[in-house]
Amino acid sequence: MFLMDLWYFGALSSQVKTGAPVTVQIAGEPLLIGRDNAGCVFAMRDICPHRAMPLSEGRQTTSPDGQTRIECPYHGWQFDVDGVCKTIPSLTEAQKTAMQLGKIRCKSFRTAEAQGLIWVYFGDADAKPLSPAPRLDHVGDTAPRLHVSMLFDCPLDHAVIGLMDPAHIAYIHRQWWWRTAKSVHEKQKAFGPVDRGFSMLPHQPSSNSFLYKLLGSKPETEIRFELPGLRTEYVLVGGRQVTGFTAVTPIDETQTQITIALYWDHALLNAIPNFLLRNAITTFAGQDRDAVQAQQKGLKHDPKLMLIHDADVQAMWYFKLKAEWTEARAQKRPFINPVKPATLRWRS
Ligand code: FES
Ligand SMILES: [Fe+2]
Repeated sequence: MFLMDLWYFGALSSQVKTGAPVTVQIAGEPLLIGRDNAGCVFAMRDICPHRAMPLSEGRQTTSPDGQTRIECPYHGWQFDVDGVCKTIPSLTEAQKTAMQLGKIRCKSFRTAEAQGLIWVYFGDADAKPLSPAPRLDHVGDTAPRLHVSMLFDCPLDHAVIGLMDPAHIAYIHRQWWWRTAKSVHEKQKAFGPVDRGFSMLPHQPSSNSFLYKLLGSKPETEIRFELPGLRTEYVLVGGRQVTGFTAVTPIDETQTQITIALYWDHALLNAIPNFLLRNAITTFAGQDRDAVQAQQKGLKHDPKLMLIHDADVQAMWYFKLKAEWTEARAQKRPFINPVKPATLRWRS
């Protein structure tokens, strides 16, 4: 159902404070993401192996020897950050020896943290991940300066292909500061494969968007998409960057979480009040959300769908990437990127 052996976006660093774990659900799995006493991030299944109480209902505490513990509120069992059971308060001394606490485990997940983003690896917890956690170019070790999270009541695939679909922009996002009906014209963009996805190769962005015009002389933009649902738009202008990162994360089969994080060192964005930027992003993402949620009314009748050339070719690539990833994992062989360099043309 969901792609495995991949890093999924878990949370923003700023959301996870020591002693105050957060809960998220990714690919059907309820997770508790916390930060230990040393400041390192950890993640475990938010279900107590004793009798299924969510561990997030309990508390994060510290053992007498200074180790971080997650304590279940029901019977006080305690787990270390790797999910290993360390304490069962009801046991007598004699029972303790018989129980072998180390064998009782809450499933834990590998995590990574960089650039203000927390990543959770979905795959064999004991094996080395197939790849290091994703890392954005151009932003160095900075954290996002703004973020917006939004719930889309639709399955992952429609959220993803809605995001990469150039033909909806002139309709769903028609507004004076982005696109107008008159600004629609024919475009051609060069694409090429990148690790687990594809890139709209660096180019001068379309002259019909007002915001790009504001950034000043000759911006260059690149848009990358990678599995499982990561879209990054890099805008470079006069040695400065504006980077928009979007994580499209499946909560379960019917709901998808969208997180947009914006990085920049461009003076223009410093001059715009954060609430205005946040409003613009929320408006934009809200238009996508409203579209895919309205689309669900049609989709529930399970109609046959069409993908056309060239506007829907990126969506075709997305399905090919997913199919190849699944097949490569099943056959335990390296992934072979099915995307070939191509120039796509459309009107938008
Ligand atoms: S359910 Fe967690 S300790 Fe019993
Ligand atoms: Fe959109």
